[in-house]
Amino acid sequence: MADASTSPPIKVLFVCLGNICRSPLAEGVFRNLVEEAGLEGHITIASAGTGRWHVGEPPDPRMRETARRHGLSIDDQRAQQIMARDLEQYDYVFAMDRSNYSTIRDLDHRAHSSSKVRLFRDFDPTPEDKNVPDPYYGSGTDGFEHVYQIVERTSRNLLDHLIKQHDLEAVEKGRG
Ligand code: 4NP
Repeated sequence: MADASTSPPIKVLFVCLGNICRSPLAEGVFRNLVEEAGLEGHITIASAGTGRWHVGEPPDPRMRETARRHGLSIDDQRAQQIMARDLEQYDYVFAMDRSNYSTIRDLDHRAHSSSKVRLFRDFDPTPEDKNVPDPYYGSGTDGFEHVYQIVERTSRNLLDHLIKQHDLEAVEKGRG
Protein backbone atom coordinates (compact mmCIF):
# COMPACT_ATOMS: atom_id res chain seq x y z
CA MET A 1 0.00 0.00 0.00
CA ALA A 2 1.32 3.46 -0.92
CA ASP A 3 2.23 5.66 2.03
CA ALA A 4 0.29 8.83 1.26
CA SER A 5 2.20 10.81 3.89
CA THR A 6 5.59 10.37 2.20
CA SER A 7 4.79 9.79 -1.49
CA PRO A 8 5.64 12.61 -3.90
CA PRO A 9 2.61 14.69 -4.90
CA ILE A 10 0.44 13.37 -7.71
CA LYS A 11 0.70 15.84 -10.60
CA VAL A 12 -2.50 16.52 -12.52
CA LEU A 13 -2.81 18.62 -15.69
CA PHE A 14 -6.11 19.69 -17.31
CA VAL A 15 -5.91 20.53 -21.01
CA CYS A 16 -8.30 22.27 -23.44
CA LEU A 17 -7.72 24.25 -26.63
CA GLY A 18 -7.14 27.84 -25.48
CA ASN A 19 -6.56 27.39 -21.71
CA ILE A 20 -8.88 30.32 -21.05
CA CYS A 21 -12.27 28.62 -20.51
CA ARG A 22 -12.65 24.91 -19.73
CA SER A 23 -9.29 23.81 -18.33
CA PRO A 24 -8.74 26.87 -16.08
CA LEU A 25 -12.18 26.21 -14.61
CA ALA A 26 -11.29 22.55 -14.08
CA GLU A 27 -8.02 23.63 -12.43
CA GLY A 28 -9.87 25.99 -10.08
CA VAL A 29 -12.75 23.64 -9.23
CA PHE A 30 -10.48 20.63 -8.73
CA ARG A 31 -8.00 22.60 -6.58
CA ASN A 32 -10.87 23.81 -4.41
CA LEU A 33 -12.06 20.22 -3.89
CA VAL A 34 -8.53 19.04 -3.13
CA GLU A 35 -8.14 21.80 -0.53
CA GLU A 36 -11.52 20.98 1.01
CA ALA A 37 -10.32 17.39 1.31
CA GLY A 38 -7.09 18.51 3.01
CA LEU A 39 -5.09 16.92 0.19
CA GLU A 40 -3.19 19.95 -1.13
CA GLY A 41 0.12 18.42 -0.03
CA HIS A 42 -0.65 15.29 -2.01
CA ILE A 43 -2.03 16.50 -5.33
CA THR A 44 -0.71 19.39 -7.42
CA ILE A 45 -2.84 20.86 -10.19
CA ALA A 46 -2.22 22.90 -13.35
CA SER A 47 -3.85 23.52 -16.72
CA ALA A 48 -2.71 24.23 -20.27
CA GLY A 49 -4.00 24.67 -23.82
CA THR A 50 -3.00 22.82 -26.95
CA GLY A 51 -3.01 26.20 -28.77
CA ARG A 52 -0.76 29.17 -28.06
CA TRP A 53 -3.06 32.09 -29.01
CA HIS A 54 -3.86 33.11 -25.44
CA VAL A 55 -0.57 32.34 -23.65
CA GLY A 56 -0.08 34.75 -20.74
CA GLU A 57 -3.73 35.84 -20.64
CA PRO A 58 -6.12 35.42 -17.71
CA PRO A 59 -9.18 33.21 -18.20
CA ASP A 60 -12.03 34.51 -20.37
CA PRO A 61 -14.14 37.07 -18.44
CA ARG A 62 -17.29 34.97 -19.02
CA MET A 63 -15.68 31.93 -17.42
CA ARG A 64 -14.33 34.05 -14.55
CA GLU A 65 -17.80 35.47 -13.95
CA THR A 66 -19.36 31.98 -13.96
CA ALA A 67 -16.74 30.75 -11.47
CA ARG A 68 -17.34 33.83 -9.29
CA ARG A 69 -21.09 33.13 -9.20
CA HIS A 70 -20.17 29.79 -7.66
CA GLY A 71 -17.85 31.38 -5.10
CA LEU A 72 -14.60 30.55 -6.89
CA SER A 73 -11.93 32.91 -8.23
CA ILE A 74 -9.84 31.77 -11.20
CA ASP A 75 -8.65 35.33 -11.92
CA ASP A 76 -5.00 34.71 -11.03
CA GLN A 77 -4.44 31.95 -13.59
CA ARG A 78 -2.48 32.67 -16.81
CA ALA A 79 -2.75 30.61 -19.96
CA GLN A 80 0.11 28.35 -21.01
CA GLN A 81 0.62 25.90 -23.83
CA ILE A 82 1.20 22.20 -23.21
CA MET A 83 4.69 21.00 -24.15
CA ALA A 84 5.91 17.47 -24.90
CA ARG A 85 7.94 17.49 -21.67
CA ASP A 86 4.69 17.93 -19.67
CA LEU A 87 3.84 14.38 -20.68
CA GLU A 88 6.91 13.22 -18.77
CA GLN A 89 6.36 15.47 -15.76
CA TYR A 90 2.65 14.98 -15.07
CA ASP A 91 1.13 11.78 -13.74
CA TYR A 92 -2.32 12.47 -15.20
CA VAL A 93 -3.30 14.59 -18.18
CA PHE A 94 -7.04 15.14 -18.62
CA ALA A 95 -8.25 16.29 -22.05
CA MET A 96 -11.45 18.30 -22.15
CA ASP A 97 -12.52 16.89 -25.52
CA ARG A 98 -11.56 14.30 -28.09
CA SER A 99 -9.82 16.81 -30.31
CA ASN A 100 -7.60 17.94 -27.41
CA TYR A 101 -6.94 14.26 -26.64
CA SER A 102 -5.69 13.59 -30.19
CA THR A 103 -3.49 16.69 -30.18
CA ILE A 104 -1.93 15.67 -26.87
CA ARG A 105 -1.28 12.13 -28.11
CA ASP A 106 0.35 13.54 -31.25
CA LEU A 107 2.80 15.47 -29.04
CA ASP A 108 3.90 12.27 -27.42
CA HIS A 109 6.83 11.25 -29.59
CA ARG A 110 8.44 9.29 -26.77
CA ALA A 111 5.26 7.38 -25.91
CA HIS A 112 5.09 8.54 -22.29
CA SER A 113 1.42 9.20 -22.28
CA SER A 114 -0.45 6.11 -23.37
CA SER A 115 -1.83 5.46 -19.90
CA LYS A 116 -1.66 8.91 -18.35
CA VAL A 117 -3.72 10.84 -20.93
CA ARG A 118 -7.45 10.40 -20.37
CA LEU A 119 -10.65 12.11 -21.41
CA PHE A 120 -11.85 14.20 -18.46
CA ARG A 121 -15.45 13.08 -19.02
CA ASP A 122 -14.49 9.45 -18.62
CA PHE A 123 -15.04 10.42 -14.96
CA ASP A 124 -18.39 12.19 -15.47
CA PRO A 125 -20.95 10.25 -13.42
CA THR A 126 -23.72 11.28 -15.86
CA PRO A 127 -22.09 11.76 -19.27
CA GLU A 128 -24.36 12.73 -22.14
CA ASP A 129 -21.24 13.18 -24.24
CA LYS A 130 -17.50 12.56 -23.90
CA ASN A 131 -16.61 16.17 -24.78
CA VAL A 132 -16.80 19.18 -22.48
CA PRO A 133 -18.45 21.57 -24.98
CA ASP A 134 -16.31 24.52 -26.01
CA PRO A 135 -18.18 27.63 -24.79
CA TYR A 136 -15.83 30.19 -26.38
CA TYR A 137 -17.73 30.93 -29.57
CA GLY A 138 -21.15 32.37 -28.90
CA SER A 139 -22.63 29.84 -26.51
CA GLY A 140 -23.89 32.59 -24.15
CA THR A 141 -24.06 32.52 -20.36
CA ASP A 142 -25.93 29.19 -20.40
CA GLY A 143 -23.02 27.55 -22.21
CA PHE A 144 -20.58 28.63 -19.51
CA GLU A 145 -22.93 27.49 -16.74
CA HIS A 146 -23.33 24.13 -18.51
CA VAL A 147 -19.53 23.76 -18.55
CA TYR A 148 -19.44 24.60 -14.83
CA GLN A 149 -21.97 21.88 -14.01
CA ILE A 150 -20.05 19.26 -16.00
CA VAL A 151 -16.71 20.27 -14.50
CA GLU A 152 -18.04 20.31 -10.95
CA ARG A 153 -19.60 16.84 -10.90
CA THR A 154 -16.77 15.30 -12.94
CA SER A 155 -14.10 16.80 -10.66
CA ARG A 156 -15.79 15.33 -7.56
CA ASN A 157 -15.85 11.90 -9.14
CA LEU A 158 -12.28 12.23 -10.38
CA LEU A 159 -11.03 13.19 -6.91
CA ASP A 160 -12.79 10.18 -5.39
CA HIS A 161 -11.10 8.02 -8.03
CA LEU A 162 -7.62 9.41 -7.25
CA ILE A 163 -8.19 9.04 -3.50
CA LYS A 164 -8.96 5.35 -3.99
CA GLN A 165 -6.26 4.80 -6.58
CA HIS A 166 -3.52 6.29 -4.36
CA ASP A 167 -4.72 5.15 -0.94
CA LEU A 168 -5.32 8.71 0.21
CA GLU A 169 -8.23 7.81 2.52
CA ALA A 170 -6.11 8.49 5.59
CA VAL A 171 -5.98 12.20 4.88
CA GLU A 172 -9.51 12.31 3.48
CA LYS A 173 -10.82 12.78 7.02
CA GLY A 174 -10.56 16.54 6.70
CA ARG A 175 -13.17 16.50 3.98
CA GLY A 176 -16.69 17.79 4.38
P1 4NP B 1 -11.05 26.70 -24.20
O1 4NP B 1 -11.92 27.64 -25.18
O2 4NP B 1 -10.36 25.68 -25.06
O3 4NP B 1 -12.07 26.09 -23.30
O4 4NP B 1 -10.08 27.64 -23.49
C1 4NP B 1 -11.35 28.30 -26.29
C2 4NP B 1 -10.68 29.48 -26.11
C3 4NP B 1 -10.15 30.15 -27.19
C4 4NP B 1 -10.27 29.60 -28.46
C5 4NP B 1 -10.94 28.40 -28.64
C6 4NP B 1 -11.48 27.75 -27.54
N1 4NP B 1 -9.74 30.27 -29.58
O5 4NP B 1 -9.89 29.78 -30.72
O6 4NP B 1 -9.12 31.33 -29.43
